[in-house]
Amino acid sequence: MFNTRVKVKDLLAAEPQSQQVTAMGWVRTFRNNQFIALNDGSTNSNLQVVVALGSHDEAFLKRITPGASLKVTGELVPSLGKGQKSELKAVSLEILGECNPEKYPLQLKNRPSLEYLREIAHLRFRTNTFGAVFRIRHTLAFAVHKFFNERGFVYLHTPIITASDAEGAGEMFRVTTLPFDNPPRNGDGTVDFREDFFGRSSNLTVSGQLEGELGAMAFSEIYTFGPTFRAENSNTARHLAEFWMIEPEMAFHDLEDNMNLAEDFIRYLIGYTMEHNREDLEFLAQRLADEEKQKPQAERSDMGLIEKLEFVVNNRFERITYTEAIDILLQSPAYKKKKFQYEVKWGIDMQSEHERYLVEKHFKKPVIVTGYPKHIKAFYMRQNDDGKTVAAMDILVPGIGEIVGGSQREERLEKLETRMEEMHIPTEEMWWYLDTRRFGAVPHAGFGLGFERMMLFVTGMTNIRDVIAFPRTPKSAEF
Ligand code: 4AD
Ligand code: MG
Repeated sequence: MFNTRVKVKDLLAAEPQSQQVTAMGWVRTFRNNQFIALNDGSTNSNLQVVVALGSHDEAFLKRITPGASLKVTGELVPSLGKGQKSELKAVSLEILGECNPEKYPLQLKNRPSLEYLREIAHLRFRTNTFGAVFRIRHTLAFAVHKFFNERGFVYLHTPIITASDAEGAGEMFRVTTLPFDNPPRNGDGTVDFREDFFGRSSNLTVSGQLEGELGAMAFSEIYTFGPTFRAENSNTARHLAEFWMIEPEMAFHDLEDNMNLAEDFIRYLIGYTMEHNREDLEFLAQRLADEEKQKPQAERSDMGLIEKLEFVVNNRFERITYTEAIDILLQSPAYKKKKFQYEVKWGIDMQSEHERYLVEKHFKKPVIVTGYPKHIKAFYMRQNDDGKTVAAMDILVPGIGEIVGGSQREERLEKLETRMEEMHIPTEEMWWYLDTRRFGAVPHAGFGLGFERMMLFVTGMTNIRDVIAFPRTPKSAEF
């Protein structure tokens, strides 16, 4: 019977009164044939298990190695050593699974690098860093649902397989059962997708937004939270081929309502995590501080992780238009000293160096940029009266750049159809989307928050591969 187990987290919180308890977990270290640091993932802190000298024979103790799993029953007593309130005086020790130290790839003694740990991602949850990261990931996901539930949003599961390209960017993974070496062909040599599983060309979704809009036209406010897929070949520390996105969509909202919601949402997620994962955040803050010490003075950030998070919770985001952003860049010392690699002029799709200059050097806080040129944004964004820009908003944050992309949607049928035609989006195939503009259209808006980008921001980790359990990136789909 395993149910008598008490989690390490609860044991460490309990008053030690020599009560008999059972703990289970994995050995982190075993010192002097006497002190076992046991971890079960419920907290970053280990339970100290004390083995009385002479209570077990040498051959048995030799099998208690880092990574081995144990069942320990004993007395929870006040600890004599420093660093912990209580410890578990072992009465019975059972090895559930051995772990051959010659073969175990996770040797914590040598402080494995994050790069190495990516190669053994199946074991990296057993480190302090990844323990903290993935407990925070859980908390953040929970907080997402809590936030929207408290506000009466309906959680809508939008499809993973679709036949439309929501962003119109063409960066999709095809879903097919056709034989790729010899697919059926049309007279003109193109592949005949009528023969395919869905009777048409289909792909993994890049965004649940379009279906989300359909939901918002009935429930008023919905959100999606699921995996999305992009076949963009960007091998950066901020892009994944499979990432999780939260997409709320709200009827009766304009761009400003949209920005207010997005800002409240980000603050809420951070506040909730600070409240519930303090120990993990403190561990990651220390980790980041140690890492910063290796950097030259000029590259170090002025704030620690916790300070940064507190700052974001307590300060409004800056709001500027795209046109203002470009002006700031053109006036910047960085531009004048030709420090930017990419061109700056009205109409560019800002590169991450530009976004980071705005948030890290100029404003030193999150910034919401609105009113982007229409030619760099998706077809569904509401057109502004100037004929050049759309009611888009991107939220940029220090250290990462874009974390949210959103807009007010074009609810005027004629304008939407014209824009789709200009952008070569097939209007017949999208009849169902256009129907919402025919049958009771309302002003509406929404946004997408990249969950892993949010994770980067909250944990202070710098590579997106380290905040998702098993990252999918170009040329990499291990595990
Ligand atoms: O700006 P994006 O492309 O916007 C949309 O997909 C809209 N349909 C959202 C909406 O209005 N409902 O993506 C939204 C966010 C980005 O701001 C970024 O945080 C994240 O998704 N993102 C990625 N995260 C990791 N890897 C990638 N390849 C990402 N592409 C976008
Ligand atoms: Mg975007």
